[in-house]
Amino acid sequence: MEKPIGVSPKAEAILAKINQDSQALRCQEPYARSNLLDAARSLIAELETPGEMISRATWAEPALLATLKTAVDLKLFDELIEDDGAPKSIRRLAEATGSEELLIGRIIKHLVAMKIVEESGADSVAATKISKALAIPKYRDGIVMMSDFLIMPCMKIPQYLARNGYRNPQDATDCPFQSAQDTTKICFEYLAERPKLQECFNNYMGGRRQGERSWFDPDYFPVEDKLQHTELNDSTPLLVDVGGGLGHDAEAFRKSYPDLPGRIIVQDLPRSVEQAAPVGRGIEMLSHDFFSPQPIHGESPQPRHPIPSHFLCQTATDNPLSLAGARFYFLHSVLHNWCDAQCRNILAQLVKVMESGSTVLINDFVVPDQNPHWLMTSLDLIMMGMSAATERTGRQWGRLLGEVGLGIVRIWGHPDSTESLIEAELRR
Ligand SMILES: C[S@@+](CC[C@H](N)C(=O)[O-])C[C@H]1O[C@@H](n2cnc3c(N)ncnc32)[C@H](O)[C@@H]1O
Repeated sequence: MEKPIGVSPKAEAILAKINQDSQALRCQEPYARSNLLDAARSLIAELETPGEMISRATWAEPALLATLKTAVDLKLFDELIEDDGAPKSIRRLAEATGSEELLIGRIIKHLVAMKIVEESGADSVAATKISKALAIPKYRDGIVMMSDFLIMPCMKIPQYLARNGYRNPQDATDCPFQSAQDTTKICFEYLAERPKLQECFNNYMGGRRQGERSWFDPDYFPVEDKLQHTELNDSTPLLVDVGGGLGHDAEAFRKSYPDLPGRIIVQDLPRSVEQAAPVGRGIEMLSHDFFSPQPIHGESPQPRHPIPSHFLCQTATDNPLSLAGARFYFLHSVLHNWCDAQCRNILAQLVKVMESGSTVLINDFVVPDQNPHWLMTSLDLIMMGMSAATERTGRQWGRLLGEVGLGIVRIWGHPDSTESLIEAELRR
């Protein structure tokens, strides 16, 4: 295909939309920034030739990941922010990182071409806001974690699917991860044996949502209204953060609601609990495997049976509730790591101990039926490669929860959050 000359009607329409979205961004309208980014991507798709698209996807992006990881290994970004981020010569950067000048020059050139670093002269460069961020552990560790842990499983998807007859993988012990990492372990066991990588994973989990709204912000989910009919005291389990990593969500929740009585308990695998820094006041860290019986429960946990017929349930009672189990069992980016059978197992441990005043809160993507964001579609495939897992639509969430006897009360969202909060209760 020849390079298009002039502006096609479709490109004209996108340019007009970009104008409109720019105006909305200036007026700080919700969604304006993401709409503008989306329109800019549409413009690229409209303007680039197939050859350019192939080169971008198969040359530029893989080479960017390779250069980012090398730059992180060499602590190049830490060097770039020295002296208040003043421009630095390639020679100085070569000396500081202990690398060959010609080599570091080549790495930096691609970082410049991809707008991670900017040129400040023929042989000198300066940090951009992105390269400054890459000197901060929570972002830097994302590059390490993705490069060393999750990119290769994603790249193995085509081979895996050809071998298994193009069926969705259903088993975390037999998915692209095992051949990519040459292991028989599931991804979380593999991580637990590599403390450095595990630390990068946990740090990245704590930082990746920077700038997004949290589910407990009052204009997202009305925490206090939901607690109106609950008798809380200092020993009531208020929030159990199941698979809560290092406890960053629990800490942020506690900071937002310092005066709410009740215990906040973060549960995770032993390695994560070991790596957690001392958490704030009123937060407990607890080693717990979420496939085993949930230890935070009332007097006599009732075994329950799934009652699948419809997916919406009645909401909580108007009478004050005295709880022994937790008010909220919270799972953030946990269920998207597992296929349906394993999610049923995780949720069943909660259903067995929930009381009528308990709520399950699931903070994950709810993929829209049409026009899903690339963050959702790409993470869906990364989850497939990592653990035979999946992102889910509202209908898929409803079905999954219904299968274990839970019903969705409401799916909450916010313009400044790509993740949603699914509020679910025991079905009556
Ligand atoms: C994607 S991370 C999400 C962490 C945290 N909730 C967040 O959103 O940042 C998934 C978490 O599940 C934990 N996990 C995996 N398998 C587990 C298990 N069997 N029992 C408890 N936690 C587990 C991992 O250690 C990890 O912290």
